[in-house]
Amino acid sequence: MTPISKPEQCARDQNRPPALAVRNLSVTYGDTIAMAGADIDVPAGSLMAVVGPSGCGKSSLLAAISGLSGQIPGAQVRGEILLNGQALTSQDRGCQAGIGMVFQQPNPFPLSIFENIAFPLREHGLRRVEALRMRVHDALRQVGLWQEVCDRLDQSALQLSGGQQQRLCFARALALQPAVLLLDEPCSALDPVATEHIEQLIHTLKGRYTLLMVTHNLAQARRLGDGVTVCWLDQACGCVVETGTRSIFEAPAHPVSQRYFSGAVG
Ligand SMILES: Nc1ncnc2c1ncn2[C@@H]1O[C@H](COP(=O)(O)OP(=O)(O)O)[C@@H](O)[C@H]1O
Ligand SMILES: [Mg+2]
Repeated sequence: MTPISKPEQCARDQNRPPALAVRNLSVTYGDTIAMAGADIDVPAGSLMAVVGPSGCGKSSLLAAISGLSGQIPGAQVRGEILLNGQALTSQDRGCQAGIGMVFQQPNPFPLSIFENIAFPLREHGLRRVEALRMRVHDALRQVGLWQEVCDRLDQSALQLSGGQQQRLCFARALALQPAVLLLDEPCSALDPVATEHIEQLIHTLKGRYTLLMVTHNLAQARRLGDGVTVCWLDQACGCVVETGTRSIFEAPAHPVSQRYFSGAVG
């Protein structure tokens, strides 16, 4: 097979649709417009950091993409979400469609460490004991938890530290091999050491997974983001003011992002 030259590969990548695309996406709760008309592209294997003040619709955006807003009373989602160019219907959203999610507060199931990962895998049809065992072990290795828990897989996950619980939540999401992983402030409930572990983990996931990560921490967004999306409140409506590659950190075009990155507001 003839190897593909670098310029040829670049041309192919440019022609590829983004792994995740959000088109004119709005989320409302009754009269509250949490997010109005968001357009975001996340190229395959990259991490898009989503920043902005509290209440500007970041979590609502992630809930809409993951399909969780279908379970929130009064939530209405309009617009399109495309995975590799294919529009999702509201029925496809969630883990079945290859979208995983990790939340701010670690939320392991009140089950053993092993079952936290095995249970969702079984729900998705993986029944063979040996295959299940390998997927669980592999997921724990991916998040750097294997050495710490390999001799106590039957213990309750609730006995782990907060940082370990959060890595277990990453393992649970990754075991389902999502095309896109959504992270909603995954470090903000953790101490600095646990935060560093999670940042290192996220770093290892880049390239292999497509990630959309909400963070309040601009330094973290700069450390991890290949791109950045700046959200803001405009007359009490959440919106995206600017989105694109990490060059926005150095040269923001929108006055809101200029003031936000300079520390003048936010
Ligand atoms: N379940 C809900 N019901 C009603 N309003 C909500 C709900 N969730 C969020 N909101 C409102 O939507 C807006 C955006 O919230 P959110 O998406 O949580 O913002 P962020 O994550 O940026 O802090 C806020 O005004 C919030 O009060
Ligand atoms: Mg939020």
